Amino acid sequence: MSTIKPAAIALYSESEKFLDVYPEYNLSELPQWVQDNIQEARVYGNKKRGVILSDGRKYHLDNKLNDMTGREWTFFINSVFSTHYPTRGAESYAHEIRKIHPSPKPPQLMRDLIYFFTKEGELVFDSFAGVGGSLLGAALCNRRAAGIDLNQEYLNAYAQAAQKLDLQVYPTICGDCIQVLQNDMLMGELTGNQKISLCLIDPPYANMMSKKKTGADTYVYGDIATPFTNEAADLGNMERPDFLEALRKSVELVLTHMKPEGYVIVFIKDLQPQKKEINLLHAEVISELNKIPKLYYKGMKIWADESAKLYPYGYPFSFVANQIHQYILVFRKEKR
Ligand SMILES: C[S@@+](CC[C@H](N)C(=O)[O-])C[C@H]1O[C@@H](n2cnc3c(N)ncnc32)[C@H](O)[C@@H]1O
Repeated sequence: MSTIKPAAIALYSESEKFLDVYPEYNLSELPQWVQDNIQEARVYGNKKRGVILSDGRKYHLDNKLNDMTGREWTFFINSVFSTHYPTRGAESYAHEIRKIHPSPKPPQLMRDLIYFFTKEGELVFDSFAGVGGSLLGAALCNRRAAGIDLNQEYLNAYAQAAQKLDLQVYPTICGDCIQVLQNDMLMGELTGNQKISLCLIDPPYANMMSKKKTGADTYVYGDIATPFTNEAADLGNMERPDFLEALRKSVELVLTHMKPEGYVIVFIKDLQPQKKEINLLHAEVISELNKIPKLYYKGMKIWADESAKLYPYGYPFSFVANQIHQYILVFRKEKR
């Protein structure tokens, strides 16, 4: 005997109106896109914790992390971001101003990460803000943000880019993040005393930029050193062990300003292998940050930047990878 499955529409029409089931619900806790359609919204599921809008979009009332539908959530946890962002025109998000920095992050990429790891109005923090990829990304999805960088010229370019894009200019401080993060008064000013929900950082990759370039890197940067600053506190001027320790210290300090179950996201790129040095910097960073009490590595996404230029490294003698990807490492602050 064949069973006839009810059509989705029947399920929808049989379920009750959200406002009838939850007359006292604090609607301001719902994402704006649910609030805007709440009159026609219905609940579904045995526990009545699902909300379905008349256009079929679904939201789970127990979603404490973000404002996404289940479908958006599933799409995001795909392990690879493959993008081709333009560096000219309106879609470049003022790249012509931000390009004074040797490695600015695309604000759209940062927005997409922030959208998954926060809810509207929450605070994103970047201790290595540069020309503001994270801060612009936060403004693009109505989150708050604050940042620190050692170089005032980069922070000025960020403010200029935000103004040009008609986006809110978030507070920043020029200085060594390790010093600033230890100063509760400065941090209170930066964050407006709001707890950080997401720390989104793209630190220098050890001393990759500050060394005179050799081999494959000369194609991209020429054979000169291109440090972010000349300061000793610049993580980009440190040898590997000092770099790892300073990065760990900076993240440890961020956690003291973060809400429980907040996330830390770190962009990192591997260095090219050298003889017996395998140089898997991303693995070293995971091990180092996992030493921080209550911080746990949760997994990674890989960002493939399809707009990166390809060079004939190694041709015609040996294999050298064109590394067009970076690791997006995800950690979470747990209660214990
Ligand atoms: C890879 S860049 C970040 C780029 C940034 N994501 C953007 O979109 O422009 C790293 C930044 O860290 C900054 N930096 C290095 N050491 C620092 C420190 N101790 N405190 C604060 N900023 C630092 C550098 O000046 C540089 O701008």
